[in-house]
Amino acid sequence: MKIKHFKLISILFFLAFVCAYSIGSPTESNLVVTTLEEKNQNHNKESFPIKPLSVKINEIHVTSRVRNRYAVTTIQSKVKNYNHKAKQASFSVILPDSAFISNFTMEINGQNYTAYVKEKEEAKKIYDEAVAQGSSAAHVATARDSNRFTVSVNVEPETKAAFYLTYEELLKRQNGFYQLVINLHPGELVRNLDVVVEIAESRKLVNVKVPPIRTGNEVQSGINDLDPRAVLDIVNDTSAVIKFTPSEERQKALAHSLGMKEEEGLAGQFVVEYDVERDPIGGEVLVQDGYFVHFFAPKDLKPLLKYIVFILDTSSSMWGQMIRQLKEAMYEVLDQLHPNDLFHLVEFNTNVRVWNLNNYLQSVWYPTSDDVYWSESYGPEDIANRTFPEAYMVNGDNIKKAKESISKFEAVSATDIHTALQVGMHLIKTTKQNIKYANHQPMVMFLTDGEPTVRETSTQKILNDISKLNDQKTPIFALSFGEAADKNFLQKLSLNNYGFSKHIYEGADAALQLQDFYRQISSPLLSNVSFKYEPSVTSLTKNEFSIHFDGSEMVVAGCYDQTENFDESFGNVTAWNGHDTVSMNFTVQRTVSSIERLWAYLSVKQLLDQKEVDEENKALIQKKALELALNYSFVTPVSSLVVVKPNATSSVDVENAKIGEDYSALTDNRFGGVPLSAGLYSDFDYDESIDVPDYNYKTTEKASNDLFMSYPWLNSIVDKEGFITISKGKYKLGLNETISDVVQCKANNKPGYCVLLNSCSQAYSVILSLNDYINYFCELQNEYAGVCCLID
Ligand SMILES: *[C@@H]1O[C@H](CO)[C@@H](O)[C@H](O)[C@H]1NC(C)=O
Ligand SMILES: *[C@@H]1O[C@H](CO)[C@@H](O)[C@H](O)[C@H]1NC(C)=O
Ligand SMILES: *[C@@H]1O[C@H](CO)[C@@H](O)[C@H](O)[C@H]1NC(C)=O
Ligand SMILES: *[C@@H]1O[C@H](CO)[C@@H](O)[C@H](O)[C@H]1NC(C)=O
Ligand SMILES: *[C@@H]1O[C@H](CO)[C@@H](O)[C@H](O)[C@H]1NC(C)=O
Ligand SMILES: *[C@@H]1O[C@H](CO)[C@@H](O)[C@H](O)[C@H]1NC(C)=O
Ligand SMILES: *[C@@H]1O[C@H](CO)[C@@H](O)[C@H](O)[C@H]1NC(C)=O
Ligand SMILES: *[C@@H]1O[C@H](CO)[C@@H](O)[C@H](O)[C@H]1NC(C)=O
Ligand SMILES: *[C@@H]1O[C@H](CO)[C@@H](O)[C@H](O)[C@H]1NC(C)=O
Ligand SMILES: *[C@@H]1O[C@H](CO)[C@@H](O)[C@H](O)[C@H]1NC(C)=O
Repeated sequence: MKIKHFKLISILFFLAFVCAYSIGSPTESNLVVTTLEEKNQNHNKESFPIKPLSVKINEIHVTSRVRNRYAVTTIQSKVKNYNHKAKQASFSVILPDSAFISNFTMEINGQNYTAYVKEKEEAKKIYDEAVAQGSSAAHVATARDSNRFTVSVNVEPETKAAFYLTYEELLKRQNGFYQLVINLHPGELVRNLDVVVEIAESRKLVNVKVPPIRTGNEVQSGINDLDPRAVLDIVNDTSAVIKFTPSEERQKALAHSLGMKEEEGLAGQFVVEYDVERDPIGGEVLVQDGYFVHFFAPKDLKPLLKYIVFILDTSSSMWGQMIRQLKEAMYEVLDQLHPNDLFHLVEFNTNVRVWNLNNYLQSVWYPTSDDVYWSESYGPEDIANRTFPEAYMVNGDNIKKAKESISKFEAVSATDIHTALQVGMHLIKTTKQNIKYANHQPMVMFLTDGEPTVRETSTQKILNDISKLNDQKTPIFALSFGEAADKNFLQKLSLNNYGFSKHIYEGADAALQLQDFYRQISSPLLSNVSFKYEPSVTSLTKNEFSIHFDGSEMVVAGCYDQTENFDESFGNVTAWNGHDTVSMNFTVQRTVSSIERLWAYLSVKQLLDQKEVDEENKALIQKKALELALNYSFVTPVSSLVVVKPNATSSVDVENAKIGEDYSALTDNRFGGVPLSAGLYSDFDYDESIDVPDYNYKTTEKASNDLFMSYPWLNSIVDKEGFITISKGKYKLGLNETISDVVQCKANNKPGYCVLLNSCSQAYSVILSLNDYINYFCELQNEYAGVCCLID
């Protein structure tokens, strides 16, 4: 019989990224590598009822090179199809929400196919043309999670495939350190799994740490069993290498501690944290080849006095756990306010209540209950006509009363975001008019779990109105709580209003997430921060920031004319420190590692953000972003990744994946916002109709070599002719044979079918030693050595 012949498809791919990158403050970094089994594999009912042989990941290597906080991470995943039929191998990755993919290569049949980045529409056109020409129908594999990037490739029997994905990101400093997070979810035990992180900074490293492996879901508190036992090699003051190489045994143990199934392998986040020693004043500028980057995170400053308006959603959807968690978090947050800070407590649902801490009954409900609340919306004039309580000073008494007020929060009725924010803006305006409070830095912490549902429900109108009202340039920090919140709107709200947004995931740890977020904004150090350089500096990224928080960092990059000497007098940083406008000098250092990509990355990021808020210049901004993205091969919301068969004339496509939908399927869905949507249309070009029973396939010489590599203990019992000798006798290993007998057996008291070793995919994770082999051994046709391959 003819060996089933698959034309290798795989070759036409298109990966499109329709992304709403998390604007503002991405914190989670995520990466998942997995191999997924094809569904409905057992079409041939007469075939073995055992778990079908499958594609196995033999190696995963993750290498992350961090230079001046810019991390370039490459994942290599090598798979092999041990089946007798062509099988689909999927490579699935969840990207850090701030990362751009910059390279994707597939190695199939010893040949590399590298993706290139194209403009979205152009890519779509190519695909449409190909389809029109009658190329076979596209196979759609939409990513389940909007962050997940999945590529599926058909792999011919007994052959290997490899995937190489590179992505780049600028590490963000938060709470005083940088964090590189690598998510590992191979979905199975992997014989060769390693992660190598190389850090080389221009400044001395401080506190390089490898915290426990995390699930990526709940904020955990130090679980001893999850120490990755990574090898941390401090090469010198400025560079370090971290290696994480868990054996299969260790992967099982970690999986177990993470609450996963052992045989599904490690599923968690490997994290490296560090900080650098820094210039206490104006920051450090690194220069190289016409590009520079300025890192600014001054130390030893007194926090500014702040005036924070909490605007908290208590609509009926907050009922139950969510409002409990909000209360719990707010008690902690109130305790962390600094003495002499000011605050207002605003609760909103259909009505907006500005709490009077001294007299609950006099808290101002706005609009009052006799208003017909579902009718027209209210404007600033309506609000100006009311009298609200003054801002409260932080002291023991007021905090106590504020907690009592919070305890009275009740989840009822609908969500009037428009009025709530307008009231907030009004409170800020009136409070800042009080000369006593002129030095208090105003800010808004806005939390909602839903969309606007009463009065003004157009998010665009809300954005416009609030921007107009916010003449104090008050930063608004918007928190979207739970999956029903309109994250996209809240991101824009913050972006428009000098702040950043964050998504709070529903879960047992929601209160901790809220507190964690508050910690980031709890200590404003400087406001109105402006970076100035000599006029010869061009292509400058954003250089004016409304507020700088303790533990974070500001980054500005640009180009300079190399004929000029970039030194300490080339510019300075000015800012308001609560009392004076201060000017700070920076230090300058030449560096060997390139800064160009860092600059390009930052420029593209900021253009994409700008595009969201600047309706007028949207097209121009998008064009600029695209040009840069194409020049540096970044896969962004405006560019697409295309893999095309060399010499192919056809077939590429665009996935118009919807953003932010359908992320429920993944257990670990805490991937920092709704950043990235990845989709794939691949053009599978094999003929289903030629179906030949599995068993006629003959393994190749190459396969037997792999068998010995996969099972090193086999060498000690096999002879040159391919016979093995064990206590029960001498048997043929059957490297070149296929046995189609259905022989039931039992091993470890579980039922299975006796098959040749090379036909049992589970064996790779089960039979790790000669002893295991003896336990699973069974005889086939009185002469062949089989193993009992368990059913599931
Ligand atoms: C992408 O990776 C491939 C394979 O490693 C390499 O040949 C190619 O030069 C890379 N492309 C870019 C743009 O870095
Ligand atoms: C394909 O690219 C990878 C990554 O750069 C490289 O390691 C491998 O050797 C390449 N394979 C071929 C056949 O060129
Ligand atoms: C530290 O080690 C790295 C890597 O070996 C090297 O490139 C760098 O020059 C060294 N730095 C110093 C200050 O010795
Ligand atoms: C403001 O309040 C006064 C007195 O209650 C009322 O007469 C007036 O119509 C109100 N103005 C607006 C714009 O609501
Ligand atoms: C912010 O700083 C600039 C100078 O860098 C100054 O011109 C401006 O008035 C300041 N704005 C505020 C609100 O202090
Ligand atoms: C900052 O730099 C300017 C110009 O180089 C210089 O005049 C000034 O003295 C410096 N200030 C400090 C505090 O070093
Ligand atoms: C700050 O830098 C700018 C640009 O180099 C320069 O014009 C200005 O004089 C500097 N101010 C101070 C106080 O050094
Ligand atoms: C992109 O590269 C081309 C050619 O190198 C260059 O002319 C162009 O200015 C670059 N565009 C951007 C935005 O960097
Ligand atoms: C494309 O086709 C030409 C002519 O058939 C061949 O010489 C060349 O090697 C092919 N290129 C690739 C990458 O397959
Ligand atoms: C398997 O077949 C190959 C080629 O037909 C032959 O060279 C090899 O010796 C055979 N191996 C065994 C163990 O029979």
